[in-house]
Amino acid sequence: MIHMKDIDLKNKRVFIRLDLNVPLYNNKITSSARIDCSIPTIQLALKKHAKIIIASHLGRPEEGKYNEKFSLFPIFKYLKKKLPEVNIIFSKNYLQGIKIESNQIVVLENVRFNYGETKNDIDLSKKYANLCDIFVMDAFATAHRIESSTYGICDFVKQACIGPLLFSEIKILKNIFNKPIHPVVTVIGGAKVSTKFKLLNSLLKITDSMLVGGGIANTFISTNYSIGKSLYEKSFQEKAKKLYETKKIFLPIDSRVCTSFSIKSKSKIKLISNILPNEEILDIGDQTIKNYKEVIKKAKTIIWNGPMGVFEFPNFRKGTEEIAKSIANSSSFSIAGGGDTIAVIDLFNLKNKISYISTGGGSFLKFIENKTLPILERLKKF
Ligand code: 3PG
Repeated sequence: MIHMKDIDLKNKRVFIRLDLNVPLYNNKITSSARIDCSIPTIQLALKKHAKIIIASHLGRPEEGKYNEKFSLFPIFKYLKKKLPEVNIIFSKNYLQGIKIESNQIVVLENVRFNYGETKNDIDLSKKYANLCDIFVMDAFATAHRIESSTYGICDFVKQACIGPLLFSEIKILKNIFNKPIHPVVTVIGGAKVSTKFKLLNSLLKITDSMLVGGGIANTFISTNYSIGKSLYEKSFQEKAKKLYETKKIFLPIDSRVCTSFSIKSKSKIKLISNILPNEEILDIGDQTIKNYKEVIKKAKTIIWNGPMGVFEFPNFRKGTEEIAKSIANSSSFSIAGGGDTIAVIDLFNLKNKISYISTGGGSFLKFIENKTLPILERLKKF
């Protein structure tokens, strides 16, 4: 793949697809992480005297309709603050063409306001391509989506290349898979094994120990014990048994349960073998925390995706908190990705203690599952 750093961008119109899909509350950015990670890409384009067009989606608005709630305007204002010396403008109507000078930045309004964006519409892809000389794909967090501004545009531009953020995210993940430093410990949580089955398979190839929590663990446990009202997936029990045969999977031996799923419910620690029909597992128990921490202590590489329980409920947060802190305090190389995982890192203020936090959620999982993404294959053709 051609890298943006190796192309002459001087006076060229460069369409950079970033993922500036950040959380907003009352029009205020609550986590700027994805924007901050994209700034070096913008700075590289400035250094190369490009005419910079920045495109991103924000949320999932209804296509073909403007909706202020999903406007990229707050992100534009944030960029202006971060790059005060740069001439940055915002463009709402850009599909018929835009005026732009070298070292100027035009931030486009949410690409998902454009009809056809998420369907990878050909006409829309052509319109994006007509805006520029070069397309830079740097939106790792949206790199698993085949949409007009992330993929279709490649069919109509003369030159396309990979940007620095996408490149480094892929490089780190590839390194872990190609040259894993053992022991590799994976920590996997979340609700459903069905959504992560491929991921587990893929991770088990390089993993020495896989620590499982959340609803995913319940499906494994349910093959041996009754787990009351707990969430589990009957149709995945056989597959779970097969995975367990690898002898790499660690499961909870105790858990925090309640009898009604509510933020106010009190938690009670029970052995996995003693769960009553009216009880529901919402977190791992203290003995499990201790066992998992022992394994984490010995790791040289940790790959973490998903919480150990319903961390949104304070009484069922301890397992997730203790495991998250133990990953953060470990001297291993730790990598974390996924929406809930990032929320946990933010909640316990562990950002600076994780070696690498991916900007991706779905794309992080998809890349681990398949070791590639469609846009990466597409970029290889330039
Ligand atoms: C994300 O937040 O995971 C990315 O920005 C992709 O967003 P999407 O799931 O709405 O495509």
